[in-house]
Amino acid sequence: IADIQEEIDHELIPHERIMGRIQEVAAEVSRDYKERYPLLVGVLKGAVNVMVAFSQALSIPVEMDFMSLSSYGSGVRSQGEITVRQDLSTDVEGRDVLIVEDIIDSGLTLDWLKRELRRRGAASVEVFALLEKPERREVDVDVKYKGFEVPDVFVVGFGLDYAERFRNLDSIAVLKASVYEGEHA
Ligand code: PRP
Ligand code: MN
Ligand code: MG
Repeated sequence: IADIQEEIDHELIPHERIMGRIQEVAAEVSRDYKERYPLLVGVLKGAVNVMVAFSQALSIPVEMDFMSLSSYGSGVRSQGEITVRQDLSTDVEGRDVLIVEDIIDSGLTLDWLKRELRRRGAASVEVFALLEKPERREVDVDVKYKGFEVPDVFVVGFGLDYAERFRNLDSIAVLKASVYEGEHA
């Protein structure tokens, strides 16, 4: 395939809208965390694009760390089991942690991570998720900062992948059904 757009059905959220919403949330977070020096925890790999745009839009000093978690493997459906592919290098004890995520689907990844960070002694744990799929929620997790709600369609781009591809798309888009049909997850 020569062009990433060949496998895209349509664009859902253009780049400019994503950046605009991230700016708004960053302004809110900059006010809420003034003089608290938060630790941003990005959940790899999906959150990497959001982390870059969001952290640069903040007006307060922060620290950044990353944790690589997987719930999906390479399939289209959540397996409900969280695998730590790579852990944080920061001690979160006593820290105000803000988790940065690309999408909340079932909520299982986030539910696990919030519990884990509290278990490690974080002073506070809040979440910024760029996207949320309310229809797919299996566990009730509190998400303080939200970007957009999306319908239950397969979205890719701005960090979100299908089988590790499409993360480098600069907008959020819906995949052509032909790309994933035939897969029985
Ligand atoms: C995706 C996404 C979230 C999680 C959301 O990550 O980036 O981290 O799934 O799903 P959930 O709410 O059902 O747990 P994935 O496991 O695909 O890993 P990746 O970020 O490396 O793509
Ligand atoms: Mn992820
Ligand atoms: Mg993924």
